[in-house]
Amino acid sequence: MSAILLEVDHLTKRFGGVTAVNECSFEVQEGSITALIGPNGSGKTTAFNMITGYLKADSGHIRFRGDLIERPRPADLYRRGLSRTFQQARIFPELSVEENLVIAAGYSWRQLFGRRVSRADQDRARQILAEFRLESLLELPAADLSYGQRKLLEFAAVLMSNPKLVLLDEPTAGVNPVMIDTMERHIRERNAAGVTFLIVEHDMQLVMRLCDPVIVLDQGSKIAFGTPLEVQSDPLVLEAYLGG
Ligand SMILES: Nc1ncnc2c1ncn2[C@@H]1O[C@H](COP(=O)(O)OP(=O)(O)OP(=O)(O)O)[C@@H](O)[C@H]1O
Ligand SMILES: [Mg+2]
Repeated sequence: MSAILLEVDHLTKRFGGVTAVNECSFEVQEGSITALIGPNGSGKTTAFNMITGYLKADSGHIRFRGDLIERPRPADLYRRGLSRTFQQARIFPELSVEENLVIAAGYSWRQLFGRRVSRADQDRARQILAEFRLESLLELPAADLSYGQRKLLEFAAVLMSNPKLVLLDEPTAGVNPVMIDTMERHIRERNAAGVTFLIVEHDMQLVMRLCDPVIVLDQGSKIAFGTPLEVQSDPLVLEAYLGG
């Protein structure tokens, strides 16, 4: 039996009168590619924001690698092996592609520009850029990248922290089919190398072939959990998507 890497217990977040996430509980098993799906506004990003410390939960608990995370803070979690990407890719447009990777290893801008980056981190950045076939672009300002390339760069940057668990918020939204395949390949490769994933994704074909298990949210509540096949035929899930 594999270990539980992330445990979310009765997590709740309200915005005024809206309960964005409602008593939500789920687990992510080590080694899995778990999907978190649901219609627009069902609370997926809000759940991610609470898990990664970008938003304070109203109630509930989060455990990562067995430890209760009392006050989740993004930088602490990052150091402990929990990294994420954003629905709108967050990179530094004025930094080069390579600098975006180096800074993701935990360097300050001062260290970066003072050339106080270790050889090992520089080598690792180059290695990841090569793996992502971005090495020919390494000197380009990230601002010059295409939308899909930015998403790829953000994913590549996340790997600089040697994460145990990566949360991806819509990694393929708005990117072309070739880039979707590329993204899928990188997720699979990293998963095979031991990285666990929790992925918010609207592309159901991708979810069905890549992820297991699948957690389904609707209006902030978990309505289903199971294999892709199980959730696909779950009446509650069909109603949530079609009933809109
Ligand atoms: N900062 C905020 N202030 C007020 N309401 C918010 C805020 N963030 C999210 N909400 C509301 O909380 C609910 C859940 O939003 P959330 O962004 O988590 O959904 P989502 O599942 O990620 O949707 P999508 O698939 O469209 O990205 C929505 O009703 C949204 O309008
Ligand atoms: Mg969202």
